[in-house]
Amino acid sequence: MNDTTAPATLVIGATGTTGRRVVAGLAAAGHPARAAGRGAAPVPGGEPVRFDWYAPETHAAALAGADRVYLVPPIGDPDPAAVMLPFLRRARAAGVRRAVLLSASSIPAGGPAVGQVHQALPDLFEEWAVLRPSWFMQNFTGDHLHAQAIRTDGVLSTATGTGRVGFVDADDIAAVAVHALTDPEAPNTDLVLTGPDALSYDDIATVVTEVTGRQVTHRALSHGELCAWLGTVMPGEFATLLADMERAIADGAEDRVTDAVERITGRPPRAFHEVARRELG
Ligand SMILES: NC(=O)c1ccc[n+]([C@@H]2O[C@H](COP(=O)([O-])OP(=O)(O)OC[C@H]3O[C@@H](n4cnc5c(N)ncnc54)[C@H](OP(=O)(O)O)[C@@H]3O)[C@@H](O)[C@H]2O)c1
Repeated sequence: MNDTTAPATLVIGATGTTGRRVVAGLAAAGHPARAAGRGAAPVPGGEPVRFDWYAPETHAAALAGADRVYLVPPIGDPDPAAVMLPFLRRARAAGVRRAVLLSASSIPAGGPAVGQVHQALPDLFEEWAVLRPSWFMQNFTGDHLHAQAIRTDGVLSTATGTGRVGFVDADDIAAVAVHALTDPEAPNTDLVLTGPDALSYDDIATVVTEVTGRQVTHRALSHGELCAWLGTVMPGEFATLLADMERAIADGAEDRVTDAVERITGRPPRAFHEVARRELG
C-alpha cells in the first residue's frame, strides 16, 4: 500500500517504454509515483500529472510534493539541455534532492544532446545517477520501426553489418532506475546497462524467427541506403544521426556487456530469447 503523504517520485515520460515500467516498479515497492506526460494519461501505479517540457507553466504543479525525479529527455530535441537545465534548477529549489537521468550507452558525459545534461547533473544534485542503456530489446517487440517492419515485411533493415550490440530489456532498465531512485545511497555515477549477451542483428532475426515461427531476415544496408530509407519517415538530420549510430555499431562501438544490472538489482539481466518469448511468443 502506498503512503500518499510520503514525498513522491515525479516520473517524466511515464507513458513511455521505460517510464511506464518505472512507475509500476515504484508502486510495487510501495513508493508513491507521479506519472507525468503531456496528456496526463493514466499509468498503472501512478498519479497522473500534466507535464510538458516545452510548457514551463506545467512544471511547478508537477513538482509539488516530489523529492526525486526520473528524467526522460524531450524526444528528438538536439539540445535538450535548453529546457532541462532550467527545469532541474527549479526542481532543486522546490525540494527535489535526487535525479535519475535516462541517457544512452552511445552518449558520454559532455557528449551531444543529453550528454550536456549528464555533465551538469552532479553540480545540481548531491544524489544522482545517469542510466546509459544500450539499445532496447523492445525495439523488436513494441511500436518501434524495427518491430513494425518485422510484423509487416519480416525484414530487419540496418547498416550495422555484423556488428554486435548488448541489447537490454526495458524491464531491467526500469529495475535499475527504481533502485537508483529509492536505495538509501544513490549511485552518484553513470551506469552503462546491457543485457547478458552482445548480439548481431542476424542473431536477433534468428531468435525472432524461432519464437514467432515466422521467417525474419536481416537486410544489411549501406550507410547511404539507410539514410535514404529513414529520410522517408523522419527529418533528414535525424536520419543521418541514426545512420551514424548504426555505422558505429558496425565498427564495434556497442560490442560489450556490463555487470551493472546485476550489481544494482541483485539479479542477472534477461536474455533476448526470454524477452522475445515473453513479448512475442
Ligand atoms: N530505443 C532505444 O534503443 C534506446 C536506447 C538507448 C536510449 N534510448 C533513449 O530512451 C529515451 C526514450 O525513448 P523511447 O523511444 O523509448 O520513448 P518513450 O519513452 O517510449 O516515449 C517518450 C516519452 O516522452 C514523453 N514526451 C514526449 N514529448 C514530451 C514533452 N514535450 N514533454 C513531456 N514528455 C514528453 C512521452 O509522453 P507523452 O506522450 O504522454 O507526453 C513518452 O512518455 C530517449 O531519450 C532515447 O534516446 C533509447
